[in-house]
Amino acid sequence: MFFRRILEVPIIYDTFQFIMGAKKRQRIFKNEYIGDVSGLRVLELGCGTSDILEYFEECDYTGVDLDKDYIKAAQKRFKDKKWAKFICSDVNEFAKNCHEKYDLILMTAVIHHISDIEVENCFNSIRSLLKEDGRFISFDGVYREGMSWFEKFLNDIDRGQFVRKESEYVELNKKYFGTVTYFCRKDLMNLPFNIIIFVNKI
Ligand SMILES: C[S@@+](CC[C@H](N)C(=O)[O-])C[C@H]1O[C@@H](n2cnc3c(N)ncnc32)[C@H](O)[C@@H]1O
Repeated sequence: MFFRRILEVPIIYDTFQFIMGAKKRQRIFKNEYIGDVSGLRVLELGCGTSDILEYFEECDYTGVDLDKDYIKAAQKRFKDKKWAKFICSDVNEFAKNCHEKYDLILMTAVIHHISDIEVENCFNSIRSLLKEDGRFISFDGVYREGMSWFEKFLNDIDRGQFVRKESEYVELNKKYFGTVTYFCRKDLMNLPFNIIIFVNKI
């Protein structure tokens, strides 16, 4: 679909996100769910243009994305943040070949782009990449009971082909993480996008 293709251009994607209120979402997400990242080892899988970095204190940050144009845009935009690096790779390929441990792994608005098999492979790798007390934090669009037709429509037109029901996300997360806490919000953007946020530990 034309609308989906055009969003692959980084500047158009960022402008669309700006209009939708993604900045507000990122700020609330950082302050209420991530907290201070000073000095932490942070891995962001499917980082896109690494928008969240705008709100980060100095840390050891690695962003990974499949799309080379998004990675180039992030490298250019955050060239002054010498503590941040960006790698162009599939998340599962990266996770398979990575032997580091992280305090925090982020995966925002990515899980609804990948199939259950890919999510399960990824969660398996994430478990091995997290430090014992590390956190895995994600958010994605979600279908919930009692949504209005407009809220449902917003999920239907999403570029991700795997927007799931609340219970399906919970089941997937509980299969791989011992501590699973989640929050459903629809007040984080300028339109009532329903989002599910997970804060997990091994
Ligand atoms: C909706 S964007 C989210 C970007 C960013 N995390 C954010 O919250 O703004 C989804 C991103 O996931 C990336 N992605 C999807 N599947 C991927 C995969 N298998 N490996 C790496 N990146 C992937 C896409 O290239 C895209 O940048």
